[in-house]
Amino acid sequence: MRFLKLFLLFVVVQVSAQQGGMWVPSLLSGMNEQEMKHLGMKMSASDIYDANKSSLKDAVPQFDGGCTSEVISPKGLLLTNHHCGFDAIQSHSTVDHDYLTDGFWAYKMEDELPNEGMVVTFVIKIEDVTAQVLANTADLPEAEKQKKIKENIAAVSGSFPKESWQENSIRTFYEGNQYLLFVLENFKDIRLVGAPPSSIGKFGSDTDNWVWPRHTGDFSLFRIYADKNNHPAAYAKENVPYVPKHFLPISLDGVKENDFNLVYGYPGRTTEYLPAVAVEQIVNTLNPAKIEVRDRALKIEDGFMRKDNAIKIQYASKYASIANYWKKWMGESLGLKKSNAVNVKRAEEQRFNEEVAKKGKTAVYGSLIVDFETNYKEIAPYALARDYFNEVVVRNTELLSVGYKLYQLEQLYKTKGEQAFTERKNVLYNGLGEFYKDYNKAVDEKVFGELIDIYARKVPAEFIPPALTNVDTKKLTSDVYAATQLTSYGEIQKLLTGDTQTILNKINNDKGYQLVKSMADTYLNKVAPKYDEINLRITALQRTYIKALLELKTKARMFPDANSTLRVTYGKVKGYKAKDATIYESRTYLDGVLEKYIPGDYEFDVSPKLIDLYNKKDYGPYGEGGKMPVCFIGTSHTTGGNSGSPAIDAKGNLIGLNFDRVWEGTMSDIYYDPAICRNVMTDIRYVLFIIDKFAGAQNIIDELKLVHPKKKR
Ligand code: ARG
Ligand code: ASP
Repeated sequence: MRFLKLFLLFVVVQVSAQQGGMWVPSLLSGMNEQEMKHLGMKMSASDIYDANKSSLKDAVPQFDGGCTSEVISPKGLLLTNHHCGFDAIQSHSTVDHDYLTDGFWAYKMEDELPNEGMVVTFVIKIEDVTAQVLANTADLPEAEKQKKIKENIAAVSGSFPKESWQENSIRTFYEGNQYLLFVLENFKDIRLVGAPPSSIGKFGSDTDNWVWPRHTGDFSLFRIYADKNNHPAAYAKENVPYVPKHFLPISLDGVKENDFNLVYGYPGRTTEYLPAVAVEQIVNTLNPAKIEVRDRALKIEDGFMRKDNAIKIQYASKYASIANYWKKWMGESLGLKKSNAVNVKRAEEQRFNEEVAKKGKTAVYGSLIVDFETNYKEIAPYALARDYFNEVVVRNTELLSVGYKLYQLEQLYKTKGEQAFTERKNVLYNGLGEFYKDYNKAVDEKVFGELIDIYARKVPAEFIPPALTNVDTKKLTSDVYAATQLTSYGEIQKLLTGDTQTILNKINNDKGYQLVKSMADTYLNKVAPKYDEINLRITALQRTYIKALLELKTKARMFPDANSTLRVTYGKVKGYKAKDATIYESRTYLDGVLEKYIPGDYEFDVSPKLIDLYNKKDYGPYGEGGKMPVCFIGTSHTTGGNSGSPAIDAKGNLIGLNFDRVWEGTMSDIYYDPAICRNVMTDIRYVLFIIDKFAGAQNIIDELKLVHPKKKR
């Protein structure tokens, strides 16, 4: 009896304390199903994923590699975030048709705009191929083992049955403890159907990014086109709208606090099972270093952008992308500290060690935690130097990033020879035009001056390249920018003209290139090999650690870290306590848009048409109690890549569109704390309201299936 009580208590605690998790839809367990039903789900696991009949997964393709989207009509209409469609919307924009500022709506299919290179990928089937991939690898030493695994992967994906227009892709889960094969269909004719103005789709911009309460209509619409057999095809005028196996009906009933919802999509990367020592390194060393670099770059760009409209346009997209993770890392560090993640992990590790001893596994797993400590200590200076190199050279200083592309070109010549060199050179020669279109030398020089100074002072001394040893970085900056040819398209085209030797000689005579080469040589000789060597050991330790966690079951919930594959996460609509005396509600309304309104501001301006609709309370069937819902939050465990994911109600209808997380909970990639981790979604009724009342795109509304699942008949 006592045992039963304890057991029941355990089950109830397990189910009610939402601990997050992003689950493989084909491998949902009894625990998952029970939990979802307890939270209010009315579907079964096979409604979510089924390889043999249509299910929710058939309506949730990956969008262009990095985001998620969902099919919402029988004619292949696709919904995703505004920030996921941003580049496409921007690329169709000119001064005369500024779709970023004014929005874009195709009122007939002929007006939809094709997007070269865009890909939308459906998962047809998921199959566990762990046994085949790990066959004959058990006793091999690490390097050979990895080689054999690669061979097995190639063999299995080559032989697994699929249709000619499909693709097999094998991915690793639980750090190499599980391998799953995905049969995929890649659609390549994707056309832009609609996008609200940025004042709606990007309302609040960087100030509101990663923050709740939120008021963004972060959506855009595309359409998938197929050949006449409904199969993927390259763009062709005569292609036809794709007929999906499933599309999501849209609920007009809205959401209430505590409502069940599941978020279906392609989370990119999480590291939930890092040891405490690794998290400590992130919080104390790596995040602060990266934040400082970006902080400087952003301040400089912002200064220029505020004074000069042309620069503002040139740098808007770059600025947003630098700012996105800059801000995320700050929130992440804050949350990790606040939730005491390092101590929580240390306590877990202690329990783990006790369990290892109790189960008589000391010989296999007994030294894991200590080995982590040793290896993370050893990798620390290399990891820091690597982050500085990536942040300063590869990403945030334009001159250095272009120079690094040339450096890679020269390396290619040395390793692969003339032909590879010429091919890559031609790609660069043509492709760099786009880059220089948005390049401003004065901005770049100032960013360079600051970042090179950080590099020279903060990179561990043994990894400072000769070109930066004991130099006056101010003088270096002006010398480089007075002489280099890497600061305009015309000049770099001259550098890249001639036969291979001539080109190599010319670039090696360039002062900017010489600096990049010194930095890259030092990095590639002194940092990268050692980093890779230690990291290989850490990866092997991590794999063993995950294996042990799975085996000893010391963690109640084990889901595989995100790896850009299809996952389900679920929870409730729920507010949270952000800090002392500060409790956030779970839903926002159009009233909040008007409260934030700053006329003429680039982040918080509101279009007159929206103000008019607000004043007239002209919300049609989309409002609720005289108010227009805008966003809501929930306890689903999401990450980058979940943008554009559908939020689905208990019965399989679309209720929201995921696009972000809350400030206090951005550490959920490393440590999920159910008290403060929340995902942010746009209420689907706001999307419909904008399409219908704001844009008057009745043609789009007519395609949709609008339902009232909560109404009793
Ligand atoms: N934070 C969200 C995500 O990681 C939205 C980013 C887009 N918005 C922006 N201001 N950069 O992708
Ligand atoms: N904004 C993210 C995305 O673009 C979602 C997140 O990180 O929560 O995927």
